[in-house]
Amino acid sequence: MFESLFVLCLVAASGADYASINLPSEHLSAFFSNNEALRDECLEDEDCPYKDYVEETKCWGYEDKCEEERKYLRPECPGDHRGWVKTKADQGRTFDTQADFGYVKQQMKEMMVLCEPMFPDDSSLECSEHLRFCRGRNLMMNFTALAQRDEPLRYKMDVLKMGEIGGYCDLYQERLNENLDHMSPLQSWAPEMRFFTRLNERPIVEGSCDVVIEKPTFIMKIDAIVNMYHHFCDFFNLYASQHLNATEAGAFSTDIHILVWETFNYQSAFEATFEAFTENPIWDLKTFRGRTVCFKNIIFPLLPRMIFGLYYNTPIIYGCQNSGLFNAFSKHVLHRLRIPQVKRTDAKVKITLLSRDTKYRKILNEAELVEALERNEEYSVERVVFNKEISFKKQLEVIKNSDVLIGIHGAGLTHALFLPDWAAVFELYNCEDANCYMDLTRLRGLKYVTWEDDSKLFAEDEGTHPEGGAHAKFTNYSFDVDEFARLVAKAADYVKKHPGFVESLEGVEYSSVGSAEPIEYDESYDFDLRDEL
Ligand SMILES: *[C@@H]1O[C@H](CO)[C@@H](O)[C@H](O)[C@H]1NC(C)=O
Ligand SMILES: *[C@@H]1O[C@H](CO)[C@@H](O)[C@H](O)[C@H]1NC(C)=O
Ligand SMILES: *[C@@H]1O[C@H](CO)[C@@H](O)[C@H](O)[C@H]1NC(C)=O
Repeated sequence: MFESLFVLCLVAASGADYASINLPSEHLSAFFSNNEALRDECLEDEDCPYKDYVEETKCWGYEDKCEEERKYLRPECPGDHRGWVKTKADQGRTFDTQADFGYVKQQMKEMMVLCEPMFPDDSSLECSEHLRFCRGRNLMMNFTALAQRDEPLRYKMDVLKMGEIGGYCDLYQERLNENLDHMSPLQSWAPEMRFFTRLNERPIVEGSCDVVIEKPTFIMKIDAIVNMYHHFCDFFNLYASQHLNATEAGAFSTDIHILVWETFNYQSAFEATFEAFTENPIWDLKTFRGRTVCFKNIIFPLLPRMIFGLYYNTPIIYGCQNSGLFNAFSKHVLHRLRIPQVKRTDAKVKITLLSRDTKYRKILNEAELVEALERNEEYSVERVVFNKEISFKKQLEVIKNSDVLIGIHGAGLTHALFLPDWAAVFELYNCEDANCYMDLTRLRGLKYVTWEDDSKLFAEDEGTHPEGGAHAKFTNYSFDVDEFARLVAKAADYVKKHPGFVESLEGVEYSSVGSAEPIEYDESYDFDLRDEL
């Protein structure tokens, strides 16, 4: 209570809304470096609570001048580069543009004006190539005809028709046409922008709209709400898109609107994640059905199924790991959702085994495996079932406080995004889909371990795909206990040697744990996260 009053006083005294910044402390320096006005204000303001951060001058990585030493995070490339690129430096650069803040930089570089304003009240539209990302001002969208459509709308390319989106500005029709080549629902904004029309009058000034939305509005075409891997692809791209506006003081403000481009009520087991992005209710296409709406500030964010987009099915250069963008996304979500860090009471490695509550990929001898781990004094083991009974925030709390995450191939392993920086992921068996979680783990900079000897795992049957045919993902498995223990030890050893883990043990009493005493961090320790690639 006192704390919040204090913050309110600060706001009143200075005019800068410090309280609404609400970013993890490790992000503040880069945030202020991108907002000079705010930074200067803080430097001059005696009461600015961020003094320590504005004096540092970190950058994310996409800024014009962002030297390596100042970067929020520097990825490592311990793996071989030959065969992919000519030099080690090229390897790092490729990783940066494919999967780190260089990806955001590329989008910034590509931004072009498609509809040009002449005067301040005019409309505008700017997009990156292939219309992967767009933003506009004073644009009109006409949802009048939607009232006549009975069928539910999702993944549709014909929500709008000719003339139902437009603005008062000079439209570069040819440039627009040239960028309509990724015509698919979740690959670009081409399905919507192909109908963009130059209006004859300023829609807001002339009162052409039934509703005018003042606050920035992000339109989202969502991949999937039931599957964590796919839905987090949506959230991830929303976050990356906010970085495209990082020079705005309100770039990460939660006082924005989100309009989901479907007529279904938005509902998801993961919906709490939206709290990291907006404090306002989520809109959908029903919200404005039958009306013409003007948006003063509208953003069409990066999409989950873009060609070479992130992170679904993206080829990522071999040998590099630990993307700053993925790290920042993880910290941002955990911070905004206020997921607590539980204080350690011993020096044990916390192991979480994800048990699947589904028809396929059950671990048949799970109890036996857990017992084997429990016999090891150095481990503290928890078996969890992440289903509807456990709120998503509670799930994140378990994960944020785990050192090793074990699970068989499945969307639950997307939780790897929210493990601490020193953690290891043991994908028990990848079910012949080798890259999916190995890459996600690598992008997040965590150790990845998986089953090595197929003769030591046993499938219940050959697996039957619901649409016919044999498929390794559609059966259950049991695992050799000794081999399992050996692989867990490999993951746990990595964790114990990691300086982040060692630091997390500070102040913990070790005496009762004997051999679990942390090992001194060895400078020569090779942080190669891959096993044998
Ligand atoms: C919106 O579309 C409807 C037809 O569906 C049309 O009658 C109306 O004039 C349009 N509104 C504007 C502002 O263009
Ligand atoms: C995004 O950036 C544009 C251009 O700098 C700016 O006009 C707009 O207000 C920004 N939007 C948000 C949501 O920050
Ligand atoms: C796998 O286990 C589930 C749950 O026990 C069961 O319903 C399913 O039939 C099993 N699948 C096979 C292929 O035996």
